[in-house]
Amino acid sequence: METVIVTNNLSYHYAAEKERYALQNVSLSFLQGELVALVGPNGSGKTTFIKLLAGLLEPNEGYVEVLGRNPKKLKEEGLLGTQIGLVFQNPDNQIVAAVVEEDVAFGPENLNLPTGEIKKRVEEALKLTGLWELRQRASYALSGGQKQRLAIAGALALKPRILLLDEPTSMLDPAGRQEVLNLLLKLNEEEKLTIIFITHYMEEALRAKRLIAFDRGRVAFDGTPNNFFRQKPLVRRLGLDIPPLYKLLERLWAEKIFVPDTVTTPEMLVEEICRLR
Ligand SMILES: Nc1ncnc2c1ncn2[C@@H]1O[C@H](COP(=O)(O)OP(=O)(O)OP(=O)(O)O)[C@@H](O)[C@H]1O
Ligand SMILES: [Mg+2]
Repeated sequence: METVIVTNNLSYHYAAEKERYALQNVSLSFLQGELVALVGPNGSGKTTFIKLLAGLLEPNEGYVEVLGRNPKKLKEEGLLGTQIGLVFQNPDNQIVAAVVEEDVAFGPENLNLPTGEIKKRVEEALKLTGLWELRQRASYALSGGQKQRLAIAGALALKPRILLLDEPTSMLDPAGRQEVLNLLLKLNEEEKLTIIFITHYMEEALRAKRLIAFDRGRVAFDGTPNNFFRQKPLVRRLGLDIPPLYKLLERLWAEKIFVPDTVTTPEMLVEEICRLR
């Protein structure tokens, strides 16, 4: 698998707090097609990390490369969106046009693509995000989950290979959170997009393939979600919760009921239990 993002000894401090690093010596790499959850307490550096990957901040030390290029340069050339789709937590701040399909067309129009190509991309992005039927709706009238899917559709219309999302579900109700998370899983599975998302919901982190935990600007864990939640003292030290589903899995294993540890949703658990002899 191709490496799409590399950071080496990446460090950053905000001008206001020179003696305190927001991010310190972070060396990570990401492969094409990974689905990664970034977790950690408030102020641990998650957003700072994503901003460095997206070229919104420039490292004080170390370096970052996205698809072999400096993201800051990509951004200056106005090409960032064609490599990295960015989605933030507040769905309302990301809508730029009054009508759904116009909102999705905004990015490709700015790239000065031919009209036919714009139409094609808008259609594709709307269909992928399940918004095709709503294409002529007023964007402001969408639900929170639909608005976040619209933000994702807007990003997809630029055909990036990587999606970075900073707490895309934190302002949504439970139904909206499900919608957005299911979409991310689908885009990763079917479109092979590399997806890195920040979340405070551990049941969402459980569904990623890789989990990275930050602690005071450093990487405290990098591995599978299951291996993370197995490390109770670390999880507790970071002030994070063990997802109820994972607790249940551990109870089942203790009772010698061996459902596979690939189970990440209640629905999958029900299926596995029904399959037991
Ligand atoms: N604009 C800023 N100016 C000064 N310091 C900042 C700024 N943004 C973040 N920081 C500091 O940098 C550190 C890392 O912040 P960051 O926003 O990356 O954390 P986070 O893990 O995303 O937290 P949260 O979960 O609350 O979003 C914190 O100590 C924070 O106070
Ligand atoms: Mg943050």
